[in-house]
Amino acid sequence: MRRLPPSEATGLRTGARHSLAEVYRPADLIVLGLGVMIGAGIFSIAGQQAATTAGPGVILSFMIAGIACLLACLCYAELSSTMPTSGSAYTFTYVIFGEVWAWIIGWALILELQFAAAVVARAWGGIAVGAIENFGVQVPQKELVQDALVFLILVVLTGTVALGARIGLRALWIMVSAKLLAIGAVIVVGLPHIDVANFGEFYVPPKTLDTAPATVLEILVGQGQAFGWFGIFAAASAIAFAYIGFDIVATAAEETTNAPRAVPKGMIRSLVVATVIYIAVALVMVGMVSYTQISEDAPLASAFRAVGVGWMVHVIDAGAVLGLSTVILVLIVGQTRVLFSMARDGLIPRGLASVSRRYHTPTRVTLVIGLVAILLAEFVPVLTMQELVVIGTLFAFAFVAAGVIVMRRRMPHLERGFRVPFSPLLPALSLVATLWLMVNLRVLTWAWFILWMAFGLGVYLVYGRRNSILARPRAPEWQPAAGGRHRR
Ligand code: ALA
Repeated sequence: MRRLPPSEATGLRTGARHSLAEVYRPADLIVLGLGVMIGAGIFSIAGQQAATTAGPGVILSFMIAGIACLLACLCYAELSSTMPTSGSAYTFTYVIFGEVWAWIIGWALILELQFAAAVVARAWGGIAVGAIENFGVQVPQKELVQDALVFLILVVLTGTVALGARIGLRALWIMVSAKLLAIGAVIVVGLPHIDVANFGEFYVPPKTLDTAPATVLEILVGQGQAFGWFGIFAAASAIAFAYIGFDIVATAAEETTNAPRAVPKGMIRSLVVATVIYIAVALVMVGMVSYTQISEDAPLASAFRAVGVGWMVHVIDAGAVLGLSTVILVLIVGQTRVLFSMARDGLIPRGLASVSRRYHTPTRVTLVIGLVAILLAEFVPVLTMQELVVIGTLFAFAFVAAGVIVMRRRMPHLERGFRVPFSPLLPALSLVATLWLMVNLRVLTWAWFILWMAFGLGVYLVYGRRNSILARPRAPEWQPAAGGRHRR
């Protein structure tokens, strides 16, 4: 139940333990947010969910997930404006609820960031091979080529993150601009091909499926089905994957100029822009063709082919290849910052908190994350783990929402660069919306999640509890680990 004093978290800005260089300006944060949000969620998962789970109602699913994420975003905005640290939800929880909960959230964030990087890299491999094939080139030994490409992209992006935030940032601006152009083309070219008949009754009557992977809610009410309202909600939870990323903006706080004001703005703005884009793309996709014709493998491309605009396939491919690259890049950045914070606090080996003298980035931890992402993407069927990533993310959302309420009561006078309006009502709604999305995830997802967390708790009991900087009150808490570039 040890808690990190708020001065430890907020003190970072005054230089106490602050060892990362300031590189982000407010506009960079929007690019960071859009860079990580717009990816597999909109290019692949939206279409898959429309075809199998929600029909045209996927538009409602996007709205439902969007509202839940906006509420969560406001809560993140308040806490990161109060504690602008690279640990984000992990550090917030450390200050508000104590060490063991912080560890649990850190462990959930690993599920979010580390696994998402592997999931998106694997999806990227499939899209890249598909893009080559769409030019009429036969790819021999497809699996092998895909494996090689996944390896290559992860090596390149890990290297980019390790070499310095500035290099990554420049690449990010260019790639995010190109991805937005491609998404803009999807909307503008697709719009005239919308046939309102395809929206049908919007609400596809539910189908009872014997083999449907049941959600917790379905088990509770004793019914398993696709489509109908159950389908729309289940799709909203799966689609929350698309929104993953606004929260990662908070991990950039320690490297942002005027973070208490810039981070909330960057986070909220990027989420609003992404939400509008998602709803527009979903409208176009299910408006162009009947949901029954959307292919699960290449949803957007299949919709454009069906209306005779085959050349858009190449635009979509280019957008997706670039788009998913930026997603992986920012996920690696986010994971680096969270693990860096956990290492700085001693909950994982402190050597991982060292900052390279040459590149001014936490290179060691970056390389570890890159390596783990490669192993996961190459040897684990990560594409089946999207929901696991979502549950880890939502779990952190729940703690952040509760954290706002508790922190307002316990530390009312702390300076806040942003305050959630109508607190505690909105944070409470955020908590309810998050829990609602969570019960709409599959039982199997929950089972894996519980196993993952139990394993994490074991790791904490064996290592973190003993090695935490708070376990050694006399130790100079912020002193950098060996190799760190900052001196007292
Ligand atoms: N939001 C990111 C994506 O959709 C993780 O790929």
